[in-house]
Amino acid sequence: MTTLDIIVDLQYGDSGKGKVAHFLCQKNNLKKKYTHVVRYNGGGNAGHTIFHKGVKFVTHQIPVGVFFGIKSIIGPGCALDPETFFEEIRALEKGGIKTKGKIFVAKNVHVVTNSHKEEDGGDKKIGTTKRGIGPMYRDKYARTGVRAESVPELKPYLIDMYEEFQIKNKKAVVLGEGAQGFGLDIDWGAYPYVTSSHCTSAGALLNGFPPQSVRDVWGVGKAYETYVGLKDFEPKNEPVFEKIRELGQEFGATTGRARQCNWFDMSLLEKAARINGVTKLVINKIDVLNRAGVWKIREGKKVTNFRGPEPMKAYIRKRLAASGLSAKNIFFSESAETV
Ligand code: IMP
Ligand code: MG
Repeated sequence: MTTLDIIVDLQYGDSGKGKVAHFLCQKNNLKKKYTHVVRYNGGGNAGHTIFHKGVKFVTHQIPVGVFFGIKSIIGPGCALDPETFFEEIRALEKGGIKTKGKIFVAKNVHVVTNSHKEEDGGDKKIGTTKRGIGPMYRDKYARTGVRAESVPELKPYLIDMYEEFQIKNKKAVVLGEGAQGFGLDIDWGAYPYVTSSHCTSAGALLNGFPPQSVRDVWGVGKAYETYVGLKDFEPKNEPVFEKIRELGQEFGATTGRARQCNWFDMSLLEKAARINGVTKLVINKIDVLNRAGVWKIREGKKVTNFRGPEPMKAYIRKRLAASGLSAKNIFFSESAETV
């Protein structure tokens, strides 16, 4: 049976999933190396910032496996934009990454068309990334969409998920790379301020993986929260968020928009960890709070102030212990390049 590790964002995206995916592929801290990396949701709306051998890359649709010569598949849960897909391949090649024979597209993934992008470009309601995501998923579910298998340019990249994982490679070890996050999930986010795909660990299974194949679910969060979109998110009159935005470089990797900031929401993280079945957790960007010199956690309207990073970490560990996550499976990161 295939083994599947899932990376899932517990907040609003931009928590550093790309870095964690890169770390897991690179470190091979696992008994067996990954044979495949599969992106399981979202599309060109995502922006994963990755430092590979010290060089910064931003990927949108192509899974991080490509940096290591691991088969990298855009799964059927995604929204594939062929135009930016080819641009991304060119950018990777230009950066010295060998992509030939490593990138694949599920034949049943739906594609984003120009008319989807035009329609989404006019969005003023929720503040989308204008990448055609909503209209594409709408057409998919309305049964009027277009699948990759009917796009001639994509032919060389097509892969059948069933053949690949149930017939050809019964012992595959797969990393499922998610996009966006729990707070943006179509079902669990603050509807309608959400994206249109399934950003939970369940969304990874929809790409053709049986529940029994799951080994670990790597939940990823950040020491404070950020959100991009039209919902009011950042508390007013708190200049500290300006500082955190600058220190944390909280500007969209896809759209360049300034991300709204807020304190770490303990209830959201707890809920997301439970619903996603998180077994390993990474909290990124502790270093940003250290440099800002503030450590706070919110819970509903209540904001708790900590004297330093250690008491904040201890509190998070204690709270998550109640959800069955032991301290040895919780990692706090202070580096943009590693976990
Ligand atoms: P859409 O996914 O472009 O339809 O946008 C819906 C909402 O999700 C908007 O608030 C976007 O800013 C947000 N969003 C989509 N993708 C990402 C992402 O990768 N990171 C953070 N926010 C995102
Ligand atoms: Mg991002």
